[in-house]
Amino acid sequence: MNIGIDKIGFAAPDFVLDLADLALARNIDPNKYKIGLLQSEMAVAPVTQDIVSLGAQAAAAILTEEDKQTIDMVIVGTESSVDQSKAAAVSIHGLLGIQPFARSIEMKEACYGATAGLSLAKSHIAQFPDSKVLVIASDIAKYGLESGGEPTQGAGAVAMLVTANPRIMVLNNDNVCQTRDIYDFWRPNYDKYPRVDGRFSTIQYTDCLTTTFDYYQKKTGQSLEDFAAMCLHIPFSKQGLKGLQAIAKNEETLNRLTERFQEAIVYNKVVGNIYTGSIFLSLLSLLENSRALEAGDQILFYSYGSGAVCEIFSGSLVEGYQKQLDQNRLESLNQRTKISMEEYEQIFFQEINLDETGTSVDLPEDPKPFALIQVDKHKRIYRK
Ligand code: CAA
Repeated sequence: MNIGIDKIGFAAPDFVLDLADLALARNIDPNKYKIGLLQSEMAVAPVTQDIVSLGAQAAAAILTEEDKQTIDMVIVGTESSVDQSKAAAVSIHGLLGIQPFARSIEMKEACYGATAGLSLAKSHIAQFPDSKVLVIASDIAKYGLESGGEPTQGAGAVAMLVTANPRIMVLNNDNVCQTRDIYDFWRPNYDKYPRVDGRFSTIQYTDCLTTTFDYYQKKTGQSLEDFAAMCLHIPFSKQGLKGLQAIAKNEETLNRLTERFQEAIVYNKVVGNIYTGSIFLSLLSLLENSRALEAGDQILFYSYGSGAVCEIFSGSLVEGYQKQLDQNRLESLNQRTKISMEEYEQIFFQEINLDETGTSVDLPEDPKPFALIQVDKHKRIYRK
């Protein structure tokens, strides 16, 4: 049975910061971000836009009423959870009005969480071919003011509907994983921002890729030459490019896949890191910006989550996949509100003030269809 991605949607907050402004404020050559990291802008989420509202917005953009009556599992991959117990998927299930007899869970393993969600969704559809699974990757990447990771922040969510006979991409059965018990990027419960061993994390990203790809080739008999494009986890675009360069031994293959890679980072360059969603944002970028792909093409994926777990898998494009996409997405992204450094520091790092009953005071008004409108006695209330 063919199982895979039938629909894919995306949501980012309305605010955007030009990294040239960040560089100027931090007394850094703007080319370090533009050329050194291959990033130009970052999405900035206000306090009223969290992984729940962004995830709901991404999913609402693709779901029909019929989908909502058929979905029987909602999976949210995230590492910027708003609650240690209640799954964001439960809130999103409620906000979207999905039929009640569904399983809703949150999955965590750094930037790898949603890839695990995709695998679980595939197994579920194999067992129940008539059902549909909503997989959402939603994250807010925040490293803190003047931190090493500051230019690699971002916010956004990707939603995917996983079904039998999908209309975008069939997921192949060639998954290969690796687990390594390391501390390259992590967030202890008592810390507001992640702890990062920056250089070590970049080395681990690439080493996990080369060793897992080696194993993948031995196990499946496939090589890079078999693929029309590659989508990688994109903490910042240069990291993905270095990953591709580390495994592409043949010059013609490297040149061809680099052309596709440039198409696969169009959105990531202006959104920034969205952790577990970044590989799927890269897929969306590739599908909506490449004119070189065609039905039947094989796409290779490298998902990496610090800590660390990674997975290499692949998918096959379905005839007519273009009809499931939005060709005006870049235009929409270009219409976001550009903010100054002062606004960025205020908006992105604003905290929710609670009174003695745990109720929010002075929460800014947010007109978006999905937004946090109040914290009421420690309960987060969203606009439906
Ligand atoms: N013009 C052009 N390029 C310049 C430049 C200039 N003026 N100045 C510097 N550069 C280049 C450097 O040469 C370097 O490029 P190469 O790596 O190709 O040599 C690049 O800009 C970055 O420079 P540095 O390495 O000196 O940058 P840094 O030390 O300030 O920080 C970082 C880089 C460690 C990645 C930091 O951004 C960081 O900690 N980020 C967060 C962690 C991260 O994203 N890790 C990725 C792997 S882990 C993962 O993938 C999970 C996840 O999502 C977090």
